[in-house]
Amino acid sequence: MRQRLATVALRTSAGVWRTITRSRRSIPSLLNRLTAGFYMKDEAFAVGMEGACGPGPVQSEADAARTQHGSGARRTKDGAMGGPARVSVFRIQGGRPLSGEVSVKGSKNAALAILSGVILAEEPVTLTNLPLVSDIETKLRLLEQLGASVERAGDRVTIDASRLSRTDPDPDTVRSIRTSFYILGPMLARLGEARLPQPGGCKIGARPVDFHLKGLSILGAKIELVGGQYEATSKKLKGGEIYLDFPSAGATQHLMTAACLAEGQTVIQNAAMEPEVVHLADFLNRLGARVEGAGTSTVTISGVRRLGGGEFRIPADRMQAGTYLLAAVATGGEVTVRDILPEYQAPVMSKLKEAGVSVEHGPDWIKVLGNRFATAVSIKTMPYPGFPTDIQQPMAAVLATANGVSTVEETIYESRIGHIGELNRMGAKVRLEGRTSVITGVDHLEGTVVEATDLRAGAALVIAGLGARGETIVKSVHHIDRGYEGFEQALCSLGAKIERIPSGEWESVSR
Ligand code: EPU
Repeated sequence: MRQRLATVALRTSAGVWRTITRSRRSIPSLLNRLTAGFYMKDEAFAVGMEGACGPGPVQSEADAARTQHGSGARRTKDGAMGGPARVSVFRIQGGRPLSGEVSVKGSKNAALAILSGVILAEEPVTLTNLPLVSDIETKLRLLEQLGASVERAGDRVTIDASRLSRTDPDPDTVRSIRTSFYILGPMLARLGEARLPQPGGCKIGARPVDFHLKGLSILGAKIELVGGQYEATSKKLKGGEIYLDFPSAGATQHLMTAACLAEGQTVIQNAAMEPEVVHLADFLNRLGARVEGAGTSTVTISGVRRLGGGEFRIPADRMQAGTYLLAAVATGGEVTVRDILPEYQAPVMSKLKEAGVSVEHGPDWIKVLGNRFATAVSIKTMPYPGFPTDIQQPMAAVLATANGVSTVEETIYESRIGHIGELNRMGAKVRLEGRTSVITGVDHLEGTVVEATDLRAGAALVIAGLGARGETIVKSVHHIDRGYEGFEQALCSLGAKIERIPSGEWESVSR
């Protein structure tokens, strides 16, 4: 069948018009990606929302050249999409109560794990509701580097990994996200060898990979660190008994995936029980794997000879859901968060209620009702089903104006604290005692210039800015782009005044 083509004229951020011809179906996805901040043919385009929420991610060429994510601007195989997130800031006018409804997109962390699992599939896999965030772009690029073909149509992506040709993806791509490392096991299962550098990711702690390495060696892999790169080989992987010293989400997912094609049975004890582990198991089973017990502390994988293809919808992102709920609370707003599984928000809902916030929920929604924190609360992060570490920073932003003294103890990562100094710049009173943030509630926060140091710190600062008096500038938005699709658009739809502007443009105005 002949493809129907369409030609669109787009203005680059340097003001030059370019015409682009693509299949009609792919145009909406193209515009989405450009709005989300990706390059096309190494150029930034002036595509974005107009009106109340500002001009969107228009960016100067100079900004485009100053990339911060990975090793710089890169093209995908066909030279079309895929650059690093660009240098932008969010400008927020605070103090406007959010109201309305917001729908939650697909889970970044579930999708990242599932994209490692795709390497096992000998037939095409279609993922729907795939979040259009930069970490996912990076992971897709990695699959392309291995020889997989990737066809995108908005949030529906078809990946054919039936013919993989490379075992040494570009080290810079691998280093730019933590979960790149989780392709090691599936690569060994499919290709018998892999060469990967140590992984990157948000700077929130040491984040070693020792559980991964120990587990893979139990399955029969030979792994050596040579000049900063892991060189791994294996004959056919063999099932084994793995005990994790800590219920690591990543290690559980990685080893579970590696074991799918191993000979015999693998049992992972003290496994992580995170919903993203369950989503991965559901995906793998859809392709023909035999994974049982995901969501409990013992996961059993009975090896099969091959995995086929299939279609899978990425479930909603629980961190995004929690972030929107907290943004609503910070502004004293009334917001319904839809298309989610409320049971995953149990710790967040429970703490909100304890603090005096009215919370209602139905089968697939949660609503917080127009009141700010009445009382301070104490929080301790724990593996699922405990309070999620990823929501600790956004929660701290809200507790900054609670009545009394709150404590937030971070037990998972030793340095997930990038938000603290920045909140204090906005007038918060947060001090760190060991791994505990002691937060003395203040009457209000004042807008100022702050910098996102990592993904969730960035979300926390946006929340703080939405609740603060006056204007807040959040710098280094590329961290936020790693995990929140259409963040400012969603917040704007709830009545927030937030716009994305190129940092160069903001700096020249602020001088
Ligand atoms: N750990 C080790 N050795 C290992 C693996 C982990 O010591 O081999 C430690 C880590 O250093 C950390 C703890 O175990 O102290 C838990 O780490 P885990 O492996 O569970 O985390 P992860 O898989 O690297 C995922 C999410 C994180 C989320 C954590 C905890 C992805 C891509 N990342 O990381 O999400 O905070 O689980 O739930 O799935 C985020 O989205 O902002 C983010 C950082």
